[in-house]
Formats: sequence, C-alpha cells, structure tokens
Amino acid sequence: MTFDPDLVRACTRCSLATSRTHVVVGSGSLSSRLLVIGEAPGRDEDLQGQPFVGRSGQLLFRLLVEEVGLSREECYVTNTLKCRPPGNRAPVPAELAACRPWLDEQRDESTAPVTLAVGLTAAREVLGATLPMGRIHGRPRHLGRGSGLATYHPAAALRNPEIVDVMRADLQVVRALLENA
Ligand code: URA
Repeated sequence: MTFDPDLVRACTRCSLATSRTHVVVGSGSLSSRLLVIGEAPGRDEDLQGQPFVGRSGQLLFRLLVEEVGLSREECYVTNTLKCRPPGNRAPVPAELAACRPWLDEQRDESTAPVTLAVGLTAAREVLGATLPMGRIHGRPRHLGRGSGLATYHPAAALRNPEIVDVMRADLQVVRALLENA
C-alpha cells in the first residue's frame, strides 16, 4: 500500500485526535538515505506540523550535520506518534498501537539503508529494544532492509550535556554505516 500523508492528517484512531493542533506526519523524502524516528511531537511540532523543530530538534540536527554531514532536508524524519500527547507526557501503549500502522507504512516505503531511533520509545518500537538506552545505544542491528541503531533523545542531552558526546559517537556509527551501505 502506498503511504498517503493525507490519510494520516485525517486520522482519528486514538483520542489524541481531539487535542492536537496538527498531525505531524513527517518531513523530507522517503527516498532519503537516513530515516530518523523520534518519540512524539512536542508543543512546537504540534503548532507547526513539522517534526523536531523545537530545541531538541535543533540540537539533533546540529549534531547530524556535524557528525554525519546530513541536513534535516536530507533525512526523512518522523515519530512513533504523529500527534502530541498533552503536556508532553510519554505515549501510552494504546496510542503507540493505534499509530503503529502509519509508521509501518512509512518504514515499508522508505528506501533508507539506515534507520536512527531517537530515544527509548523509538528504540522499543523500531528495534524491539528491551534494555535501557545505556545498554543499547550505538549498536547497529539488522532490520528487514538495512540497519538500525538507537541514540539518546536530544531532550536528555539538553538536560545533561555529557550525553552530547555519547550522541556524537553514536552518530559516527551512523556515518560509517552509511559509508558502507
Ligand atoms: N521530540 C520528539 O521525539 N519528536 C519531535 O518531533 C519533537 C520532540
């Protein structure tokens, strides 16, 4: 099935449909070489309808440019949830399950050889991770097509600047995977 962003924009599969301003479907091209998957839109993303446009996103894309050499426009960027959970609370399992088919369609249609899961929610959904981020980040695994790896959420790096260097090292792994893909 061809991924249709307009169907996502009209989605009412969970109760977040009643509180959102915009559905945040994704940005960039599904033929990009890097697929970036975060957790869920925050306030800025909900207002603008674009993923990772707030402070977290600015840090993430500064690091991606510096370590991987890819700009926001050169990646396909989306989230496990397409609508903002009120107050930025964590997604609940029912929301993740309701939204999952959209992410599956995006992943099926993406031709990216590398998928980067940003934060533990994405790592669980995309990589099937069961361990804490400290145990899984930066370790590539085979996905159906290509490889996937997880890194910390940039919100964690904004709270604890030591995490920035860990993210940089993880992104160097992304760079190497892309060079060898
Ligand atoms: N955090 C995320 O996980 N995704 C966004 O799009 C913004 C903040």
